Amino acid sequence: MKVLIGVTGCIAAYRACELVREFQRAGHEVSVVMTEAATRFVGLETFAALTQGHAKVSLFEDEDPIPHIALAQWADAFVVAPCTANVCAKAASGIADDLLTSTLLACTCPIFIAPAMNVHMYESAATQANLDVLRARGVHVLSPDEGYLACGEVGPGKLPDPKSIAQWVCAHAEKRPQALSGKRVLVTSGPTQEPIDAVRFISNRSSGKMGAAIVSAALDAGACVTVISGPVAISYDARSEVISVMTAEEMFQAARKAFAEVDVAICVAAVADIRPESASAGKLKKGRDDEALACISLVPNPDILSWLGHHKQEGQVVVGFAAETEDVVAFAKEKLASKGADMIVANDVAAHEVFGADDDVVTLITEEGEEELGRLSKDAVANEVIAAIASMTANS
Ligand code: C5P
Repeated sequence: MKVLIGVTGCIAAYRACELVREFQRAGHEVSVVMTEAATRFVGLETFAALTQGHAKVSLFEDEDPIPHIALAQWADAFVVAPCTANVCAKAASGIADDLLTSTLLACTCPIFIAPAMNVHMYESAATQANLDVLRARGVHVLSPDEGYLACGEVGPGKLPDPKSIAQWVCAHAEKRPQALSGKRVLVTSGPTQEPIDAVRFISNRSSGKMGAAIVSAALDAGACVTVISGPVAISYDARSEVISVMTAEEMFQAARKAFAEVDVAICVAAVADIRPESASAGKLKKGRDDEALACISLVPNPDILSWLGHHKQEGQVVVGFAAETEDVVAFAKEKLASKGADMIVANDVAAHEVFGADDDVVTLITEEGEEELGRLSKDAVANEVIAAIASMTANS
């Protein structure tokens, strides 16, 4: 594989030297493109020596008149590591004002970025929004490690170990058989909102991140994906069709309609189990409507997974998720049977912070048995879930 490594101006730039060596050790060809700022941390000559001269900074001082297009056409994978907040922002908005960012825009190969920066820069709303935009466009984004940062602060922002970056890139970029090629997949995702009145609702803490990871993993495996999502702040992969809903009943109607056309349904949504029996059209007022506010009558919502599980046709695969706080595996096994699912992905939400987090610890439960996966990023969990589903569809 031809790997183009982009190095940006950050204290972790020196670790890109080791990243070059990791790819070379694994038998890949490497070229490097640096920003001007990166050369303040590591000299161009260092990367030139490591790559037998294949390291560049400038759009204009090259024998090739259009070096960004030549590099973009050459690369099988473009890995920006470390990637500063500035380059994340430029990439998200399509700014191409140097060789690295112009090449990013011209690339049609898979793009990987490993953000590394101060914890507050990483957690800022602007950086997070830029990373969401990039993810939604199919860019692979590696979560930074947590630890003691160069600035003296502690938190997420460290460039992960170069060996694990190289493994992560290879796992995604090397041509793999499209395990779900030609399959149509339905994903429910996010929370639902059940109105109490014009301004209040019942909902939960689901961010939609796990659903989004499942959507991208299914797309990467060659499937055609429709996602039915409750209100979320994240974006789904731009290659998917997104149907936005608010309530469980709306999600149920949309899922029932789409189900006949799909091979696989994956219910990731955290559907509210109950809803107010009736929602007031206006705002219930404190003082005037105290009685109505103190006593909201609740009725159960339809169980979408259970309906799909009990209406599936020969060859259709239905998968659910189960968030439990106790007896995780036992409850998930019960759910597998009662909901007619082919697999339940169980996670212990008491033992680990799951809502809004970037990683997860889950157990895959099928009739054949259970497989406990260690702590993995939500992207890696999604890949494992899709691989397990692919083997089921191959057998069905
Ligand atoms: O019963 P419980 O809510 O724990 O089951 C979780 C699984 O069921 C998830 O896959 C979730 O998407 C699905 N579910 C559903 N409709 C509901 C409740 C849960 O599809 N009303």
